[in-house]
Amino acid sequence: TTKAVILVGGPSRGTRFRPLSMELPKPLFPVAGHPIIEHCFRAIANVPEIKEVFIVGYYEESVFQPFINAISTSFPQLTVKYLREYQALGTAGGLYHFRDVILKGKPDRFFVLNADVCSSFPLNDMLELFEAKDAEAVMLGTRVASESATNFGCIVSDTHTKRVLHYVEKPEGQISNLINCGVYLFATECIFPAIRSAIKRRTERPRLLSYPSSENLESSYYQGQEDDDEDKENTVVRLEQDVLSDIADSRQFFVLETKDFWRQIKTAGSAVPANALYLTKAFQMGSEELAKPSANIIPPVYIHPSAKVDPTAKIGPNVSIGARSIIGAGVRVKETIVLDDSEIKHDACVMYSIVGWHSKIGAWARVEGTPTPITSHSTSIVKNGVKVQSITILGKECGVGDEVRVQNCVCLPNKELKRDVSNEVIM
Ligand code: GDD
Ligand code: GTP
Repeated sequence: TTKAVILVGGPSRGTRFRPLSMELPKPLFPVAGHPIIEHCFRAIANVPEIKEVFIVGYYEESVFQPFINAISTSFPQLTVKYLREYQALGTAGGLYHFRDVILKGKPDRFFVLNADVCSSFPLNDMLELFEAKDAEAVMLGTRVASESATNFGCIVSDTHTKRVLHYVEKPEGQISNLINCGVYLFATECIFPAIRSAIKRRTERPRLLSYPSSENLESSYYQGQEDDDEDKENTVVRLEQDVLSDIADSRQFFVLETKDFWRQIKTAGSAVPANALYLTKAFQMGSEELAKPSANIIPPVYIHPSAKVDPTAKIGPNVSIGARSIIGAGVRVKETIVLDDSEIKHDACVMYSIVGWHSKIGAWARVEGTPTPITSHSTSIVKNGVKVQSITILGKECGVGDEVRVQNCVCLPNKELKRDVSNEVIM
């Protein structure tokens, strides 16, 4: 059998997702009408042999419970459990800590998915490659522009055999433009021993190994934690830095290169391209839940059934409109996520933006970001020599006055914008 683990991190992560992560954890943020993590579940549910899914993170237990209840109803064949790390254990540390639960029922292999990516998650293709190669590990890879590659884990592979020859997490120099998508399939008998050796190496030569970039973790380590037995398990172990390159050196490790879409969801602004990619996919699949194209609906568009959209408003492409939102006459919305309970008054124009929960945009106002090239894996742009957010984001309960223009701004919750602003973070 096969299981799946989704790594969700915890409240100390996802800081680049502010101000939206101040209201709810990033994995639960809606893109294309569904929580980011739900898109992982849709892919998992397409693999018939997966019956059990673990969400591993260090958010409080209660955080994912409503989601788990909902997803268990949608996919009754899946048993879903949240496994809470008492502190950040790292991407491999979490798996290792919960190894008994994962190994229960003796699965031969299991998937690991980073929750913060958007992808078509070709899990069945990964399984096929795994079996064809009699692999011990398979990772999903994608090609990115050479200048972006060093922001990711880089893979050197044999193009013919697809074998991973060499793996380096976020290398200093360019070594390959084939990068790690954060989706893996591991043989249980390979991965746990590999993590165990990484932990063992660490306790033998603690200072030679990499440590988490997270500042508080780093400082607590350098404040002189001793390696007593407790701490051995407590230390962060990262799949990417401490385990994968070893597997590449010694094991049957292969990469499935996807030609389909893939993006990371790190900054709040990156939810806008993720929304566009998932909506496009839903449209291609003929999804019933999308709004029907018409003179004023340019697909793909998702409109929650409880939202009220004036028929003269022109919506799309790549727009999601949340529950109970109200869109007035003559409004123009494109490339935007409008969150629940928002209102956009008549003749306003909203593009390349995220409108926070319960926000109000006045009549004839303009709220806009700047498009980023489709190949770009970044959501910041340089304007007048300064790095600014390409996507305009209004936090929860913001107000934009009538006729006010907001350009390339990030606006924290509960702000009233009464005059024009551009290229600013409004606190
Ligand atoms: N449970 C748990 N515990 N999850 C964690 C922890 C932890 O201590 N730390 C990170 N995660 C989760 C995050 O929520 C995310 O889903 C995933 O693990 C990876 O997060 P990061 O550790 O921040 O890595 P990254 O996103 O910068 O890079 C990784 O993903 C890239 C693709 O998006 C690497 O795997 C790269 O090689 C890869 O290219
Ligand atoms: P078409 O309208 O499809 O011909 O394309 P376009 O490139 O002219 O503009 P698009 O519809 O993609 O929408 C963006 C444009 O809408 C902006 O550049 C604005 O000039 C315009 N716009 C601005 N304010 C409003 C408004 O209040 N209502 C409407 N409907 N449009 C507006």
